[in-house]
Amino acid sequence: MQNAALARMGIDGVYVAFDVAPERLPEAVAGLQALGVRGVNCTIPHKVALLSLVDELSEEAAFIGAVNTLVFREGKRYGYNTDAPGFLAALRSEGVDPTGCRAVVLGAGGAARAVLVALARAGAELTVANRTLGRAQELAADLNRKLGAGLEVKAVPLCAEALGPELGKADLLVNTTSVGMSPRVEDVPPVPLDAVHAGLFVYDLIYNPLETRLLRETRLRGARGTHGAGMLAHQGAQALELWTGQSAPAELMERVILENLAERS
Ligand code: ATR
Repeated sequence: MQNAALARMGIDGVYVAFDVAPERLPEAVAGLQALGVRGVNCTIPHKVALLSLVDELSEEAAFIGAVNTLVFREGKRYGYNTDAPGFLAALRSEGVDPTGCRAVVLGAGGAARAVLVALARAGAELTVANRTLGRAQELAADLNRKLGAGLEVKAVPLCAEALGPELGKADLLVNTTSVGMSPRVEDVPPVPLDAVHAGLFVYDLIYNPLETRLLRETRLRGARGTHGAGMLAHQGAQALELWTGQSAPAELMERVILENLAERS
């Protein structure tokens, strides 16, 4: 998707993948910087290690506790996390305005942190539900402490009884857990379907399969919803924008993802 975007943007550049052993990450970063590359995306297991290898960290990357985009500029290393703004852009491209909306987020891992910080910044009212309640409580407390100013994220267990009342009044449901991801496509988070209503938008971060059982069942109840390919495309587009200072074609990037997924299945 990055190479398709570079071609469309008319940039004489290339995006390539390197497999880097964890113990060689500092050398790899120094080498890339010395070579004069514009920037890097990185993923598991390097996202956390990069926190201590940058000169400056964006507020989102610091809160999420992970760097997924590195920018080399004037001899310095800047660490960003484009998952949070990528999620917001994907949501907005579906016509969902998070400002003032009531959102329920399933899961309390790294992806949930990105989604929650994005929604909190946009002014949503938030509930986080997790199988391990303690993790949701810690995350809610961390958000309330760090983002402060009137924010009150609520933590509940990920079970039908606790979710019922939350979903009834929610505008947005976001699944950040891996429940329903291929190959266990028949798994579904314990969302009480009677509480699902036509005013609910369901954003499932999973993109393999494109239609999870959660999306299918909530659609049957009248909710709108979409898969995670949009967020994947938008976080990539935001990284490209950081490297180039130009706007990146997120729709084209999403189309490339969808074509690749179709070829594989
Ligand atoms: P990521 O960084 O991608 O968010 P993670 O940190 O491993 O990944 O988080 C995975 C999330 O999916 C967690 O919220 C996890 O719940 P726990 O904190 O209770 O482990 C959730 N999850 C994974 N499998 C699950 C399952 N079978 N049922 C409910 N939640 C599940």
